Amino acid sequence: MNRHHWWRDAVIYQVYVRSFLDSTGDGIGDLAGVRAGLPYLKKLGVDGIWLSPFYPSPQHDHGYDVADYRDVDPVFGDLAEFDLLVTAARRLGIKVLLDIVPNHCSNEHPWFREALAAAPGSPERARFHFADGRGPDGTEPPNNWHAMFGGPAWTRVTEPDGRPGQWYLHMFTPEQPDWNWRDPEVAAEFERTLRFWLDRGVDGFRIDVAAGLFKHPELPDSPDPEADARTRDSVNPLAWNQPEVHDVWRHWRAVCEEYTARDGRERLLVGEVSVPTAREHARYVRPDELHQAFFFDLLGAQWDADAFRKVISEAMEDIAGTGSTVTWVLNNHDQVRTVTRYGEPADGSGIGAARARAAALLMLALPGAAYIYQGEELGLPEVVDLPDDVLTDPIFRRTGSRARIRDGCRVPLPWSGQASPFGFTSGAESAKPWLPQPEYFAEYATHRALADTRSSWHLYRDGLQLRAALHQLGEGTLRWLDTQPGVLAFTRGDDLVCAVNFGTAPVPAPVAGTPLLASGPCPPGVLPGSTAAWWIDGS
Ligand code: GLC
Repeated sequence: MNRHHWWRDAVIYQVYVRSFLDSTGDGIGDLAGVRAGLPYLKKLGVDGIWLSPFYPSPQHDHGYDVADYRDVDPVFGDLAEFDLLVTAARRLGIKVLLDIVPNHCSNEHPWFREALAAAPGSPERARFHFADGRGPDGTEPPNNWHAMFGGPAWTRVTEPDGRPGQWYLHMFTPEQPDWNWRDPEVAAEFERTLRFWLDRGVDGFRIDVAAGLFKHPELPDSPDPEADARTRDSVNPLAWNQPEVHDVWRHWRAVCEEYTARDGRERLLVGEVSVPTAREHARYVRPDELHQAFFFDLLGAQWDADAFRKVISEAMEDIAGTGSTVTWVLNNHDQVRTVTRYGEPADGSGIGAARARAAALLMLALPGAAYIYQGEELGLPEVVDLPDDVLTDPIFRRTGSRARIRDGCRVPLPWSGQASPFGFTSGAESAKPWLPQPEYFAEYATHRALADTRSSWHLYRDGLQLRAALHQLGEGTLRWLDTQPGVLAFTRGDDLVCAVNFGTAPVPAPVAGTPLLASGPCPPGVLPGSTAAWWIDGS
């Protein structure tokens, strides 16, 4: 019998821990809250969860600035609580993935502190990218690279003797110094971290900035610094996607295989890989590298049939060609939620909500794995009107721009009741969630969603149940069916047909009969606008 690789068609739920469920009443979600929410996730039917970073951190970038890779920040719990969570998840058959951040750490990491205290040229500094400045007295940064969240990618340090000294590289904020992966101590330290968590029973890792890690060895100027500054994409060809990074993923894969050989449980590595083309992306999921890499082009596509068809076809050709499956994603903690991205108004009651539901059904029908970001299953819209004084995203602080800030998709989840905190925090009634929840979140509370069969929650649950029933829905090839413009329809090498009407006017359905599942009201023979449906094509 063919061994089924669970991750190939898995549906993983991203838990943004600080916004999921707060068990202590301090207004910040925590690991005990995640454990309490597991039955809810079991009911939804996901295969696993990915936990956003919960490690000790000064939280300059909500945990993506790690001060200790092998512990739990007291805000989120402790290692004993972590162990309870893993045990409870295992009992429910839910896999647990951790978020590992190998490109950079926190400026409060002990090794960075040691580097600051040590001399230029020392082994302590070699673990990071320290370099002398240019210009008279070294007052200019060593090169022209921009940081992803605004400003130069270099910060000058004061040497232990009090004089202005070298500069260190940080591709994100100054509080996130980049590791130097050419230093063997760095690789060895990360292997210790992998093994630490694997020994505690985790099922794998989501790898932050997985096309990062290595920089061009000479750190030369970027050919187009203006382009680097304009976008939050990883476009500087000297700072990202260096060939050496693939050796790291081969090694990490081998570590995972070693654990699988011991106990038969397959571990999963999923990379956050931002590279310019689907072909480059495919290189990260070759059979001896990462199992999966998020395919962000679907997330980036406009609500347009041709745009969706193009990115889906490219992914299927380039990534499925490696023997891996495509890893689809429509939402995460860094992006404006689909409901808002696809249309107005702010409370999510309009066309954006219908399109987001249709997109979800499309994603769940595609061959491959899918990731759902918490609240997506509730149809939560982005909170677009958070006042400036509550914003915490370092992008806001560093660019002064509200344009692409990420707080609006991180507002704590509503669970029950009519008023904030909507059951998010179980402490004193006065405990305020760390970001304010709008009144209209009452409409989206999980209790309400579970009770209403027309809710997005039921659509996701039904979609997941059907995936499970149709067994290995994630496998198979995709074949497009002929349709009129503005409509996409495909089968997947089995009997399932999925069709999406990207327009607003109804069109004839591609399959006769009542659909198995639809993202909105769908009479037989008709596919209304902004609607997706699934049929089993028995004819
Ligand atoms: C990734 C994370 C993002 C974080 C950044 C720096 O893109 O998803 O939230 O800010 O890496 O670690």
